Amino acid sequence: MEIKITKAAVLKEKPDSSTLGFGKIFTDHMFMMDWNSEKGWYNARIVPFGRIDIHPASTVLHYGSEIFEGLKAYRRKDGKVQMFRPIENIRRMNRSAERLCLPEIPEDLAMQVLTTFVELEQDWTPSAEGTSLYLRPFMFGNDESLGVHAVHNATYVIIASPVGSYYAEGINPVKIMIEDQDVRAVRGGTGYAKCGGNYAASNRAGERAAQQGYSQVLWLDGVERKYIEEVGAMNVMFKIGGKIVTPMLSGSILPGITRMSCIAVLKDKGYEVEERLLSIDELEAAMENGTLEEAWGCGTAAVVSPIGELCYKGVKYPVNNGEIGEVTQMLYDTLTGIQWGKVEDKFGWIQEI
Ligand code: PLP
Ligand code: COI
Repeated sequence: MEIKITKAAVLKEKPDSSTLGFGKIFTDHMFMMDWNSEKGWYNARIVPFGRIDIHPASTVLHYGSEIFEGLKAYRRKDGKVQMFRPIENIRRMNRSAERLCLPEIPEDLAMQVLTTFVELEQDWTPSAEGTSLYLRPFMFGNDESLGVHAVHNATYVIIASPVGSYYAEGINPVKIMIEDQDVRAVRGGTGYAKCGGNYAASNRAGERAAQQGYSQVLWLDGVERKYIEEVGAMNVMFKIGGKIVTPMLSGSILPGITRMSCIAVLKDKGYEVEERLLSIDELEAAMENGTLEEAWGCGTAAVVSPIGELCYKGVKYPVNNGEIGEVTQMLYDTLTGIQWGKVEDKFGWIQEI
């Protein structure tokens, strides 16, 4: 599809990479494309970054039809820019779209518009250690009417933000509160889709945990509050008695691309990985009898984030003495090594711009 490019009249000054934080600074342009149930996708354009004008009755403002993705472009030592497994984000976006009755985007078109946009904005990819250009594609239902039904109009947008570390703690271990009241998602609901509503539903527990000095919550399943699902907005993994255990994808868990990549790296290095139901009782027993060796979250934003303490029903359990464990460190080094082009990509995950 032809992409009309309108360049910004004045380009912004690039930020100092020590002050980046996460998702606070945006690049000069954004990509936009509209969809209508009769016309399909049309009006693909790159325009100066700016506000989006929407009708007060727009579907997204009332009924939450919104989905998004998150992936990163990295600057290698030789100056080239590369993305990590973008096709997986494109495929997940289409699965999310199917769940929310939003339009899917043909993979070729989604890849064409993403690469064209990243090529144009690639100078914004920072080069300091631990930094990257976070790409945020998102789509929203945009009918100008209050009827509740699958939308006839939608808009797809990609914005980009140069980022540093996601958690203020960086790669240092975080403290996690096990949440036994609110749930993030339920089987049959939208947990496996990356839709805005899931995050709105999770904020209350996150805030309660923050008030008590915890970075995030560990979610239990929405039916029995018995099985472990995710940690904050990341997938979660444990090393228990020498084996790696991670919750199986039950429908209420987001199938993370970092999760998938961690499993591939772990298996490649000879670790036994179990994707299965993991109950809070089993985890509690492992915390009590000392067989819980490591715990970490994994997701695009933080890559791998070690858990140094878990709090359950008021009891605090340190994990690996509050220090980053050996497997957690290996995963962080291997994944970031591949992402920044320092470790050979034998899996074929990298796509150069
Ligand atoms: N779980 C949730 C709820 C998320 O929002 C994310 C972030 O994208 C993840 C897991 C990790 O997914 P990925 O590794 O694809 O970033
Ligand atoms: C992740 O990349 O792990 C995230 O969860 C992103 C978050 C900002 C939604």
